[in-house]
Amino acid sequence: MFHLFWLLPSVLAVPAPHPMITPAPALTPRDPGVVAERQLDSIGSYVGSVISGLGSDVSSFVASGVPQFFAGLPTGTQVEKSLGISDSDLAATPTQVLNVPAYGNWTNAGWNVRVHGNVFKQPNISTEKLDDLANIFLIDVDIKDLPADQQAQARNLTSEIFVVQQRNVNVTVTFANDVTVKPETDSGAINAAGGAQVIQLPYETTDEGDFDAFLVLFNSTGPDGGHMMGGNETDRIQTLNMYINGTDTGNATAYLVPPTGLTIVSDIDDILRVTKIYDPKEGLLNSFARPFTPWLNMPDIYANWSKTVPNMHYHYLTTTPEQVTRNYMDYIYKTYPLGSFDTRPLNFSDASATLAIRKFLLDRIFQTFPQRKFILVGDTSNSDVMKDYPQLTKDYPGQVQCIFLRNTSSTDSADKFPYDTSGFKDLPQNQYMFFNVPDDLTSLDIVNGQCYNSSVKQNLTFSEQGLPFGLSKNAAGAVRASILWETAAVALVLMILIVFT
Ligand SMILES: *[C@@H]1O[C@H](CO)[C@@H](O)[C@H](O)[C@H]1NC(C)=O
Ligand SMILES: *[C@@H]1O[C@H](CO)[C@@H](O)[C@H](O)[C@H]1NC(C)=O
Ligand SMILES: *[C@@H]1O[C@H](CO)[C@@H](O)[C@H](O)[C@H]1NC(C)=O
Ligand SMILES: *[C@@H]1O[C@H](CO)[C@@H](O)[C@H](O)[C@H]1NC(C)=O
Ligand SMILES: *[C@@H]1O[C@H](CO)[C@@H](O)[C@H](O)[C@H]1NC(C)=O
Ligand SMILES: *[C@@H]1O[C@H](CO)[C@@H](O)[C@H](O)[C@H]1NC(C)=O
Ligand SMILES: *[C@@H]1O[C@H](CO)[C@@H](O)[C@H](O)[C@H]1NC(C)=O
Ligand SMILES: *[C@@H]1O[C@H](CO)[C@@H](O)[C@H](O)[C@H]1NC(C)=O
Ligand SMILES: *[C@@H]1O[C@H](CO)[C@@H](O)[C@H](O)[C@H]1NC(C)=O
Ligand SMILES: *[C@@H]1O[C@H](CO)[C@@H](O)[C@H](O)[C@H]1NC(C)=O
Ligand SMILES: *[C@@H]1O[C@H](CO)[C@@H](O)[C@H](O)[C@H]1NC(C)=O
Ligand SMILES: *[C@@H]1O[C@H](CO)[C@@H](O)[C@H](O)[C@H]1NC(C)=O
Repeated sequence: MFHLFWLLPSVLAVPAPHPMITPAPALTPRDPGVVAERQLDSIGSYVGSVISGLGSDVSSFVASGVPQFFAGLPTGTQVEKSLGISDSDLAATPTQVLNVPAYGNWTNAGWNVRVHGNVFKQPNISTEKLDDLANIFLIDVDIKDLPADQQAQARNLTSEIFVVQQRNVNVTVTFANDVTVKPETDSGAINAAGGAQVIQLPYETTDEGDFDAFLVLFNSTGPDGGHMMGGNETDRIQTLNMYINGTDTGNATAYLVPPTGLTIVSDIDDILRVTKIYDPKEGLLNSFARPFTPWLNMPDIYANWSKTVPNMHYHYLTTTPEQVTRNYMDYIYKTYPLGSFDTRPLNFSDASATLAIRKFLLDRIFQTFPQRKFILVGDTSNSDVMKDYPQLTKDYPGQVQCIFLRNTSSTDSADKFPYDTSGFKDLPQNQYMFFNVPDDLTSLDIVNGQCYNSSVKQNLTFSEQGLPFGLSKNAAGAVRASILWETAAVALVLMILIVFT
């Protein structure tokens, strides 16, 4: 008998005022909870009541109104203790490395590549235990009741989460000229003609097993006497493969990106795939069990850009924790153009850093490419996206070309979470678009900064919006809601509770 409560780090159980981040999840099977009486005197408590209505365990997965399924996952010794794994068992299992596809910028010293990832060991967990652990992530569903392929997917993800990170490890990376690129579809990316070399990272892995360092590449001669081109000699993205020494699990591609041009920074959940993060029961099934599925014809939009916009750099930036990065990469590379990646490093896993991580990663890519222009893609269900994307127009004037936000509530009535459009107040309409379906993105001239399709009606209040029945906040933040609306909201919450119980 093993005890899941071992997995509950007490440091994560910080009480937090709503609507800020709530504590990390209690890792016990989720079950829609008991109905508690709610005071619907403000939007905060409305949202609070929708969330708490989903069950006490789900409520703890909520940061700023929207569930974060993967917040507060167990790490390292918590995993080891909870599964009763002995050090000697673990020592016998091979060391694995997650090597996240990298970007590099052009500097006076040469190409400067950001190598980042995680070193870990994967304990041998029996199927029974894995099933118990997988059930933690599902609401009202037992893994045994899922179709076989979904069981396999749920076990796969669960075993990726329950890994033991390795601290104080030196990481050596071998760069090689053997990438398979298709320049005609991968935005003209080409193989670097040189640059093969072996570099040991300057630091050992952190306590959480993470590594993250910029490495300057030596201009070595390639197989046919070729060389990497400098960032001042080409507009094209050059690629090199990276192999982490001592394992065959740390293969990834590095993208050498010239100083000028367009970079698309794209979130993944609910924009490149169907997640329904705002509908926890569905969101958990979509994240843990079902195969990743594209959202409508979004792949066609990216494929078209990849064919028609030369030298565009694709960067997939999601705050999903790095433990599940492989599944995201696997899906993206089968479905969308090749590109570099950022996911949430483990040192950002505690609740207090959850909302800061996206801005941290965005700042880093903007600062690494101060002359490139960015196209930012996301959806209204991420409160950090809603805040950070417009903020970047102010922090890095002239660098944001377009902001595209999928309005998740327009196509999905299950989305009951409000979103804040105040950041868009001073932005010219041509710089952004709230869109409903992927086809709204066709026929835009993103290269020349024409980012708005005038047939797509915009309805921004420049405040918190998206609440049902016209409930909204005025500019001062006071709540404008009549007794009638409150009554309606109570009815709605009760309806939701009935559906979820
Ligand atoms: C590119 O930059 C390198 C290093 O800064 C410099 O040596 C070289 O002359 C430049 N090449 C061109 C074509 O400007
Ligand atoms: C994992 O453990 C099972 C028994 O629980 C054993 O049969 C299997 O060989 C082990 N696998 C590895 C890779 O050690
Ligand atoms: C990592 O490499 C550095 C420099 O080569 C060395 O001083 C250090 O002892 C190494 N650490 C481990 C754990 O091997
Ligand atoms: C590497 O050296 C070659 C030959 O001197 C030069 O043509 C090329 O621009 C250099 N590339 C970089 C990245 O410095
Ligand atoms: C890393 O692997 C490369 C390629 O296999 C090899 O040339 C190099 O000697 C290795 N370096 C270390 C430190 O293991
Ligand atoms: C990583 O690359 C090595 C060398 O090409 C290859 O043997 C290995 O199968 C690759 N690993 C994976 C997981 O694809
Ligand atoms: C899980 O699936 C991914 C993507 O298919 C794969 O790369 C990974 O090796 C699998 N992990 C495990 C533990 O089976
Ligand atoms: C996480 O690590 C990065 C460096 O890899 C560091 O810059 C950042 O401040 C750390 N974040 C936290 C919350 O510790
Ligand atoms: C390259 O990236 C590093 C790391 O973000 C940054 O400090 C540096 O200023 C960048 N160099 C140039 C020339 O943009
Ligand atoms: C999003 O869609 C909903 C439902 O169609 C609509 O009420 C709302 O105004 C839209 N939001 C924006 C910002 O256009
Ligand atoms: C494809 O992209 C080009 C360039 O951005 C654009 O002009 C064209 O309208 C797009 N076509 C479709 C079907 O999206
Ligand atoms: C526009 O937004 C307001 C405030 O959220 C809402 O009351 C109204 O129904 C929306 N209009 C449309 C056409 O969606």
